[in-house]
Amino acid sequence: MAAATELVSTSPEETEAAGERLGRTLGPGDVVALVGELGAGKTCFIQGLVRGLGVTTRATSPTFVLINQYRGRVPVYHVDAYRTESLAELQDLGLPELFAGDGVTVVEWADKLLPLLPPGTIEVTIAGLGDEPRTITIRRLT
Ligand SMILES: Nc1ncnc2c1ncn2[C@@H]1O[C@H](COP(=O)(O)OP(=O)(O)OP(=O)(O)O)[C@@H](O)[C@H]1O
Ligand SMILES: [Mg+2]
Repeated sequence: MAAATELVSTSPEETEAAGERLGRTLGPGDVVALVGELGAGKTCFIQGLVRGLGVTTRATSPTFVLINQYRGRVPVYHVDAYRTESLAELQDLGLPELFAGDGVTVVEWADKLLPLLPPGTIEVTIAGLGDEPRTITIRRLT
């Protein structure tokens, strides 16, 4: 496993900037898995990430529709697995096809679908809540 990158963010702007830096490096087929508690800053990170992918509309959490799609340098799919009940439901939604496709797929609450994540997935873990600084760890899954 490649070494993890760890950084500390003391503001939503810093978290977005970290997302944007990662977004600039992404390309077709990349999968980014966000893990962190309610209010950790997953959506905040993704707002920067999609900007780094050339998306000009602001990302919002797709809590009810489950998958949002944005147009950037490549198609970007933003999944929020919070309300999903089972892996089967996520499979039926077509996540394996999205992961295998040519877009970039970004998943909030990715710990709910670990078995579905392909090798090479970039896992972003955000720790810290409320006004606390956030520790953001980025590593590639094998
Ligand atoms: N350093 C920080 N980084 C990110 N967010 C921060 C930070 N400090 C405070 N916040 C606040 O924490 C909240 C993070 O919200 P966000 O919606 O991004 O979290 P989330 O992990 O997506 O939550 P949910 O599980 O509800 O989807 C925002 O209100 C933001 O302003
Ligand atoms: Mg969110």
